[in-house]
Amino acid sequence: MCGANICWRRSAIGRLPGELLKLGLFEAGGHMYWPGLWPMHCMPVAHRPICWPQLFQRETPMIRFTLNGKDVQSVDAPDTPLLWVVRDSFKLKGSKFGCGAGLCGACTMHVDGVAVQSCVWPLARAEAKQVVTIEGLGTPSNLHPLQAVWVERSVPQCGYCQSGQIMTAAALLQNNPSPSEAEVEQAMAGNICRCGCYPRIKAAILAVAAAGAGLQPIASPSAAPPSVASVAAARNTEESV
Ligand code: FES
Ligand code: FES
Repeated sequence: MCGANICWRRSAIGRLPGELLKLGLFEAGGHMYWPGLWPMHCMPVAHRPICWPQLFQRETPMIRFTLNGKDVQSVDAPDTPLLWVVRDSFKLKGSKFGCGAGLCGACTMHVDGVAVQSCVWPLARAEAKQVVTIEGLGTPSNLHPLQAVWVERSVPQCGYCQSGQIMTAAALLQNNPSPSEAEVEQAMAGNICRCGCYPRIKAAILAVAAAGAGLQPIASPSAAPPSVASVAAARNTEESV
């Protein structure tokens, strides 16, 4: 504790503004402090000294990972679901929130090539890993084979579940380029489609597998993900043509 503070507290001149400033107590970075008149480096608050440098200490760890081929870092809390980090902090809205409980597959992303339900996948588990979302799977000018077949066969109805469906299918084909019908059904069992597009989804996956096109590398640096702005610009250009 600083001797200078004790002097201040004993002095009538020092006490008066201190009492007034109790009304102005507020919190910053988890530490209580008085703004204003106390000596600048340390002050007793709630029977413990608080030093100014603490106010500026970062308590949230920085979590680094690769998102769609780009190195990124996040200061979100380590237990934040990856889905919210990707959607809210990195503004990639292709992965959808459905159940929030790992039951519907709408939020499916790849973490180190494995399809995961990002609504129940804490950010901390993405540390130093490769995260790929639907935005990193292909580009408007270079669609992933699954995306191309999806468009060609008009697979989606409302579309809400479809990014999750495609991400799960892409992980399946990466591991098993020629799955049987039963293997497709098994792999896709965790992805719910309320519009009931299951027959078209299965047929599209089998078509890609039959064409031998399922093993396209994902999120390689050369297939860098488009920014949200560039996708929107590409869409506008296509629409205006
Ligand atoms: S929103 Fe993640 S599994 Fe349903
Ligand atoms: S297309 Fe509507 S939920 Fe699957």
